Amino acid sequence: MGLFAPLIDQLAEQHWAVSRELFSMAEIEALACEAWHGWRNGLFLQAAIGRDAQRQVRSEIRGDFIRWLDEHALTPAQTSYWMKMEQLKEALNQALFVGLRELEAHYAVYPPGAFYRKHLDRFRTDDARLISTSLYLNIDWPEAAGGALRLYPCQDEPQRFVDVLPQAGTLVVFRSDTIYHEVLPATRMRLSLTGWFRRRSLRLQA
Ligand code: OGA
Ligand code: MN
Repeated sequence: MGLFAPLIDQLAEQHWAVSRELFSMAEIEALACEAWHGWRNGLFLQAAIGRDAQRQVRSEIRGDFIRWLDEHALTPAQTSYWMKMEQLKEALNQALFVGLRELEAHYAVYPPGAFYRKHLDRFRTDDARLISTSLYLNIDWPEAAGGALRLYPCQDEPQRFVDVLPQAGTLVVFRSDTIYHEVLPATRMRLSLTGWFRRRSLRLQA
């Protein structure tokens, strides 16, 4: 668990955590390069909200474009990401007994001005997502470019928030069921790799 200990302690204590140590700049660059290549080749789809019958594209709520990773066809850059996230999953299971089983992850591109309104990552009809993660892939991202991930650490104090800039190598981890968050608009293209650790899926009635 060593490498992940500070992150896990922070997460256990406050339901969210940030680490800038887990991925090397070479790993980040490889992921970013590949994602932008996919973007230029039209491989991203407009993101929707909800799932199954509730699924709909609503750019007044969420304006990003996504590309899912396929666990069975990972590129070398994605493999190094996936392996590190699997290690994190095991460390979380050992430390917190959370029973995480699988990872699902997608790249997301927010064009300038796009945002994602305040939300929770858990679907109303599926409570499998336990832990949300976002790894940022924006090299040389100044504060003035905006695009922060705004976390609301306490549901009882909705005016209190913490902003995390989407700078290359920053990994944010938070509880999918309790931490409201939003993506603020940026002045330039914003790239992230977002992943969710899931427990065994328990489908609820829609
Ligand atoms: C999401 C999300 C945050 C980000 O996709 O649900 O909140 O910073 N993404 O990309
Ligand atoms: Mn989210």
